[in-house]
Amino acid sequence: MIETENLETDLVLALKGKSVGRVPVWLMRQAGRYLPEYRELRSRSGSFLNLCYDSNLAMEVTMQPIQRFDLDAAIIFSDILVVPDAAGCKVKFSPEKGPILSQIRTAEEINKLDFENLTGRLSPIYEAIKKTRVALSKEKALIGFCGAPWTIASYMIEGGTSRDFLKIRKLAVEEPRTLELLLKKLEGCLASHLIAQISAGANAVQIFDSWAGVLADGSFKHLSFDPIHRICKKVKSMYPEIPIIVFPRLAGTRYTQFSKSKYIDALSIDQTIPCEWAAKNLQDKVAIQGNLDPVLLLSGGDKMVKEAQRICSILNQNKGFVFNLGHGVIKDTPVENVVTLCKLVREQ
Ligand code: CP3
Repeated sequence: MIETENLETDLVLALKGKSVGRVPVWLMRQAGRYLPEYRELRSRSGSFLNLCYDSNLAMEVTMQPIQRFDLDAAIIFSDILVVPDAAGCKVKFSPEKGPILSQIRTAEEINKLDFENLTGRLSPIYEAIKKTRVALSKEKALIGFCGAPWTIASYMIEGGTSRDFLKIRKLAVEEPRTLELLLKKLEGCLASHLIAQISAGANAVQIFDSWAGVLADGSFKHLSFDPIHRICKKVKSMYPEIPIIVFPRLAGTRYTQFSKSKYIDALSIDQTIPCEWAAKNLQDKVAIQGNLDPVLLLSGGDKMVKEAQRICSILNQNKGFVFNLGHGVIKDTPVENVVTLCKLVREQ
């Protein structure tokens, strides 16, 4: 176990379930294409992965939303797909199709990937965290992250984004051993990746299981919850004081499984989860982060204001609460809407 002097920022305290007298806020995908300064830097950098693997550029992009908005945290600029990329399952980003990965199908192909010493190959990310922590003021937390094994495996097996996830769902039924082999390998290196991010200076970490919602109930525990739970256990054995946020997107009532894990501090809820339900069924056990519909941030105006106020009125009840979106900021979101939203949350 490593003793850390983790910054007791309002965000960190709220994630640990404390009421801090105000509502801390950050936004998933707060750095990205809706910001003109991001688009400018991105057009000069060649590829998206060049940005992720250059510690100075990654730090600069991480700081961009902090310089514009009154946010409580920065999230390190990177991607969940740097892990398969560094293991040898190469990733390209197409402007039309999103990520494209060299597809993995068989146990033989999985065994050819190199999951050993992944943290060595991902060292630019840890460098970027070190540099960002120095640049960031003490009141602001720095969040590290990774994808969950199920979500990363889905990109590897499908070869990119999918509409129906048929390839991986079929693999789970017909060749469960092959999928388990991949999930196990991912589990080990993802725990190391989070630990390395914390060692470099991350004050909290989030695990994105963006596609948890496509799992049938019979396989949810085994393929989404269990691997995440074991990753959290490993991270907590090293850094018990660092809060862990889990985002099992579209998991519905299965969010309760995560709330019962003693290794999980906070749950990020998507916009389909009723706040009242989360307040009643989850918030006694974990802090809640969420859950404005990103489309309301895109459209702005009165509907956004009313819904943000409603969310705060239900979830800001002397228990752990962090304002966020139900998913990432959409590309065409006007910057002024983000300014309005941050101001509004400050007034709660
Ligand atoms: O500001 C932040 O939130 C930090 C950076 C961040 C990115 N991706 C940058 C990014 C984070 C936390 C992620 C997580 C991520 N990446 C997830 C989980 C969250 C979610 O959205 O569900 C997933 C599934 C990915 C995989 C991924 N990366 C996809 C599907 C895409 C293409 C879709 C898109 O929005 O373009 C990416 C590319 C990506 N990741 C971009 C950014 C800023 C856009 C790349 C570009 O500049 O062209």
